[in-house]
Amino acid sequence: MFEELNNRPADSLLALIKAFQADERAGKIDLGVGVYRDAMGRTPVMRAVKAAEQFLLETQDSKKYLGPEGDLQFVRLLQPIIFGQPAFGGRLVGIQTPGGSGALRLGAELIQAANPSTKVLLGTPSWPNHAPIFGSARLTVKEYPFVDLASQQVKFESVVEALSSANKGDVVLLHGCCHNPTGIDFTMEEWRRIAELLVAHKLVPFIDLAYQGLGDCLEQDAAPTRMILEAVDEALVAYSCDKNFGLYRERVGALYVMTRNAGDIGKAESNMAALARVNWSMPPDHGAAIVRTILESAEMSATWRAELEEMCERVNGNRAALAAAAPDLAFISRQRGLFSNLSISRETAAALRARHGIYMADSGRMNLAGMQPADAGAIVTALQAEGCLK
Ligand SMILES: Cc1ncc(COP(=O)(O)O)c(C=O)c1O
Repeated sequence: MFEELNNRPADSLLALIKAFQADERAGKIDLGVGVYRDAMGRTPVMRAVKAAEQFLLETQDSKKYLGPEGDLQFVRLLQPIIFGQPAFGGRLVGIQTPGGSGALRLGAELIQAANPSTKVLLGTPSWPNHAPIFGSARLTVKEYPFVDLASQQVKFESVVEALSSANKGDVVLLHGCCHNPTGIDFTMEEWRRIAELLVAHKLVPFIDLAYQGLGDCLEQDAAPTRMILEAVDEALVAYSCDKNFGLYRERVGALYVMTRNAGDIGKAESNMAALARVNWSMPPDHGAAIVRTILESAEMSATWRAELEEMCERVNGNRAALAAAAPDLAFISRQRGLFSNLSISRETAAALRARHGIYMADSGRMNLAGMQPADAGAIVTALQAEGCLK
């Protein structure tokens, strides 16, 4: 049977990691990775996470099954961080998932179960896994251009056009903050206009919040999500703790669903649990137990918040350094999150690697956490040499 399979293309980012490791030049710079890096180039286990792991090691007395909903105390404790303290009137339900990816997949399957003819509107470029996840759940994905990379501007008229021509009940995937791959987030004014369009055309937002706290701060990064949920009557939110707690391989996330009527919450909840059961049965516990332990402790929470602020400041410091090194890169300091996406060809990305030891994705996506402020000059010189800047 397996001879019937076709080969799939290798993951180009993994190839980039290998090429970087094999490069022996001293000044090489890795802007290709998809994770946070500190000033030493490491992706460390956060101090709060270490403290929580120590606590769990000493106190955890059972590893019995928790059920398809996972750790519900984890799900509850995250809620005020994401949503603030609104009165959802019993219309919000959450379940633990294996990372933000699991939350997106579960949300996609829930939509499929509710109405298989739902279309999912996706602004491009987007995280490369978005379209395949919704497609795998047999939903139709309708892509529309969301930014113009040459000018690094949102194509807001294209967003308005896409939302205005959607059918009632269609789902709109929105990056809550720190857009991956562009770093280009909507302004609050644009978010408010989006909220109006969602309401006017009876569309359902599906907010992907994977980088809360890595843009400006926890509160500010949650502001668009909170405003949208105030405005609409139904929504989904896929949340990842993998970046803001540095728990990548532990696979920690949650899916929250807001229903129109409180009476429908049980249906949403039981469907989410049933879909989880046939996908992964139960989510992995360790990462969620770490996050819960941190959020249950005032001391560990304070440490986590301080560490997250440091991470955020480092990324924005690198953004400022690069923007200051070349007027043409000023847009980088206005963007947020780990990524920005230069408008360069695959050939130019290859030349930056081969001639200058500067590694970024072929798409021109670069991870600002992969550099040091002192690297800004070398990056600008290389971009100038390859004709990307004046
Ligand atoms: C926009 C976006 N959403 C979701 C995810 C998935 O995160 P996780 O690693 O928690 O599955 C990522 C990961 O890179 C992402 O960039």
